[in-house]
Amino acid sequence: MCGIVGYIGNRNAWEVVIKGLHRLEYRGYDSAGVALIDNNQLNIYKKAGKVSDLEQFSRGKNLSGSIGMGHTRWATHGAPSDRNSHPHTSGDGRLAIIHNGIIENYATLKEELAARGHHFSSDTDTEVLIHLIEEILKQNHVDLREAVRLALNEVVGAYAIVIMSEDEPGQLIAARKGSPMVIGVGNNEYFIASDASPIVEFTKNVIYLKDNEIAFLKRNELLIKSIDNTVQTPYIQELELKLEMLEKGGYDHFMLKEIYEQPRSIQDCMRGRIYPKEGKVQLGGIKEYTEKLKNIDRIIIVACGTSWHAGLVGEYLLEEYARIPVEVEYASEFRYRNPVISEKDIVIAISQSGETADTMAAITLAKEKGATIFGICNVVGSSIPRISHAGIYTHAGPEIGVASTKAFTAQVTALTLLAFYMAQQRGTITQSQLINLLTELDEIPALVEKSLQANEKIKAIAEKFIHSRNCLFLGRGSGFPVALEGALKLKEISYIHAEGYPAAEMKHGPIALIDEQMPVIVIATKNSSYEKVISNIQEVKARKGIIIAIVTEGDTEVKKMADYVIEIPDASEAFLPLIATIPLQLISYHIAVLRGCNVDQPRNLA
Ligand code: M6R
Repeated sequence: MCGIVGYIGNRNAWEVVIKGLHRLEYRGYDSAGVALIDNNQLNIYKKAGKVSDLEQFSRGKNLSGSIGMGHTRWATHGAPSDRNSHPHTSGDGRLAIIHNGIIENYATLKEELAARGHHFSSDTDTEVLIHLIEEILKQNHVDLREAVRLALNEVVGAYAIVIMSEDEPGQLIAARKGSPMVIGVGNNEYFIASDASPIVEFTKNVIYLKDNEIAFLKRNELLIKSIDNTVQTPYIQELELKLEMLEKGGYDHFMLKEIYEQPRSIQDCMRGRIYPKEGKVQLGGIKEYTEKLKNIDRIIIVACGTSWHAGLVGEYLLEEYARIPVEVEYASEFRYRNPVISEKDIVIAISQSGETADTMAAITLAKEKGATIFGICNVVGSSIPRISHAGIYTHAGPEIGVASTKAFTAQVTALTLLAFYMAQQRGTITQSQLINLLTELDEIPALVEKSLQANEKIKAIAEKFIHSRNCLFLGRGSGFPVALEGALKLKEISYIHAEGYPAAEMKHGPIALIDEQMPVIVIATKNSSYEKVISNIQEVKARKGIIIAIVTEGDTEVKKMADYVIEIPDASEAFLPLIATIPLQLISYHIAVLRGCNVDQPRNLA
């Protein structure tokens, strides 16, 4: 994943582009680069490292020009370095490109171009594409627009690209296939970006470029064509995004802000969808599939990372309430198998970004095999919702911290709504049960708010573990995916090795790791597996492990055994994941900050 920004208009392009790159840095921070056209001359500045390194490097250089583009990279082909940073140029240096995605047939193209005398100065797939365009310009005597179109017809893979040329200095060319791209429409100016965050402070009017579309932009002219050369009619829509959603709003980190936003984001996910007094759930996005939902035999959930953990919570909820078998699959495994799927199946893709390549490939495969696809996504208008038949937006708002927090709880909320909706439709729940559950669900944002009040205590506990090298997270039932998510949060932002396990599985291996140095974080709330979890805690204590227990307010039993306890408000088992996740996010956050880690941009991630 990389971030791309482009600008053409009357402002100073460097300022627009650099600001945009800062907003897009969550998409990658291995290197950054900018290309500007000033007086018909292409100036390129690029540097390994963060956008701030690029700014420092470019100080004192010619940053004039009102046409420009910039890129922030998450390395795939070629290590993070100055030479692999974007923009890349053609052999004669007159064309420049920035790219997000992967050109899968780049090796073959590179070989052919090398045989025609092209020399490459990077290890990237992107550089091959700009050389290909240069070669087509030379061989076919066409203009740049046509050369780009012809080149893209030869490319296999995914891309969002922007191209500039010294020979046609008043124009930007942008195209997409499988990677997101938005065009902001201003007054005699246009903006291009991977998402709307760099655009929102300049204009609210945007066009989401579709797959296989190419946009030709001049200051006061926009033409969109399909890759097969048909003119397209652009659909301009108004952004709902607000600028303050993209700022830290007084918090030290986006991650902390997003943790604290959860009472609101959970509420937003439920808004207009639950009617506790009437005992009714309404999900407009999947309504037309209600009959199908009543009659299906199973659901398959595909996702990656945190979203996969949310899927596991969904499995508990859907099986418990809607009484339907659920399989939860890593999208990256599912897509490379030959899974048994039919038109009777519903496949649910869960994704915060709505752009994760493996998840997209998994649903594309399932769709080909006739399944109905639902997307549970956060980013409105992203690719997964576009290729799904139906879906539920989570409405958590932009998640800028790379470590998912509010996206996870919003996904769990959406799955909770789906489970209750299906239970209602399939008659696997009574009306009075549903009224009780919805009444309680309505109160969950307040309970999440209350859980956040333990922050200072959690910080004090975190201080004790900043030098730990390992950590175990244990839970049972729906507490197990919460443990997995807790472990993922800790390892990705603090670089402490952490594992999540179903508590009872500990004795089948991981127990060997336990000694007096090993912190074991246990979800030990009062629910159906409470007694069993107490036994697991005793097993850890017998081996001198350190117990940090997440307990229900007022608990006395676990307190006697645990070294540290963090209380959370009492709630039914169905809602445990929404509340128990909060202290795990906070403990990881504080440990990572105290270890001096960059929690918003952990190393190697995007
Ligand atoms: O955008 P997605 O939810 O599809 O992303 C999938 C994973 O990359 C993501 O959930 C990742 O594991 C989290 N950001 C980690 O906190």
